[in-house]
This record gives sequence, structure tokens and C-alpha cells, in this order.
Amino acid sequence: MNTLEAIFSRKTVRAFTGDITEEQLRTLLKAAYAAPVGRALFENVHLTVITRKDLLDKIDRAGAAMMQNPSMHPLYGAPVFILVSAKLSGPNDNVGYSNCACIVQNMALAAVELGLGACHIWGAVRALASDEALLKEVNLPEGFTPCCGIIVGRTDEVYAPREIPENKIKTAFIK
Ligand SMILES: Cc1cc2nc3c(=O)[nH]c(=O)nc-3n(C[C@H](O)[C@H](O)[C@H](O)COP(=O)(O)O)c2cc1C
Repeated sequence: MNTLEAIFSRKTVRAFTGDITEEQLRTLLKAAYAAPVGRALFENVHLTVITRKDLLDKIDRAGAAMMQNPSMHPLYGAPVFILVSAKLSGPNDNVGYSNCACIVQNMALAAVELGLGACHIWGAVRALASDEALLKEVNLPEGFTPCCGIIVGRTDEVYAPREIPENKIKTAFIK
């Protein structure tokens, strides 16, 4: 698959059928490490690969509670959740948040190539970031804030090039 095919085929997958292999995880992490990071300050970002079922369940429940919908599952039963955290210089550290987004998107595109399902996760991360007990369990290095994440797993869904309308994002041209 070439790069544009992967980009045009990528879609959010929220239905999972099983675990990923060690090799697939290594490839996803390599994609994360290949991401651009502002001023190459790689020490300001941190990844946590969470596969422990009871912790995934706790994060799932915290996300559902935050959204006031106990029957929802914001981690969709995925077997792997990769949390991306950053050492932020403050609430307006747009570089810090952007670094995390670049890292997640690299993994999302790698998931397409690997035929794995993946979904960016924001809601459950917000719940995690405001839950002292959960923060303790994910054991981030001092000064790091959970910013976003991605769930990954095997899926029955297939990737194929999607119709991408030209005006999907309103775009201004200044000539
Ligand atoms: C920054 C960001 C945060 C997102 N957070 C969530 C989330 O918490 N839960 C979820 O189910 N989807 C989440 N998504 C997925 C979007 O809902 C999805 O990308 C959007 O509906 C477009 O669909 P597509 O990815 O299939 O093109 C997130 C996407 C992005 C880029």
C-alpha cells in the first residue's frame, strides 16, 4: 500500500475481534517514534501501552461516567490502548498537544497498512486525566499530562479507498 492509498483508506474503526501480535505492536510503536516532534524534543512526549484488562476496564468506566452514560464503552473493548502524554509548558502549549496528535496519526496510518482497527481516543483520556487514582495507575513520569491516545485491535472491517469530497473541510485560498 502506498502512502496516499493508506491516507485515503484510513477510517475510524470501533469494532474489535481480538488482540494484536507483538510484531504488530512493535511496528505501531516504530510509526509513533517516526512522528515529527517540535524542536525534536522527544523527551517531552511519553507513550504508555496499556493491555491490562482491569485497567482498560477502569479507564472505560471513567470515560463512560464522564459522559454520563454508564452503558457506553468509550474504549470499545479494544485489547490495546496507547496513551500519549506530554510535558506541557502550560494550557496553551499548542506544540505539546500537536506532537501527541502527530504521534497518534502515524500509528493510525500504520494500523491501516497492518489491517488493524484503530480509533483516536480523546473522551476517555480527558476522564483519565482528571482521575487521581487512574493517574496513579498509569504511572506517568513527573510533569506529564495525558493528551490523547489510540485504541488498536484486530477487526473484521476492511480498508478501501474512501470517497473524500473536495469541500470536506472548508478551505480558503488567498492569491
Ligand atoms: C483528536 C481526535 C479525537 C477523537 N476522539 C474520539 C473519541 O474519543 N472517541 C471516538 O469514538 N472517536 C474519536 N475520534 C474519531 C472521530 O470521531 C473520527 O475521526 C471522525 O468521526 C471522522 O471519521 P473517520 O476517522 O472515519 O474519518 C477522534 C478523532 C480525533 C482526530
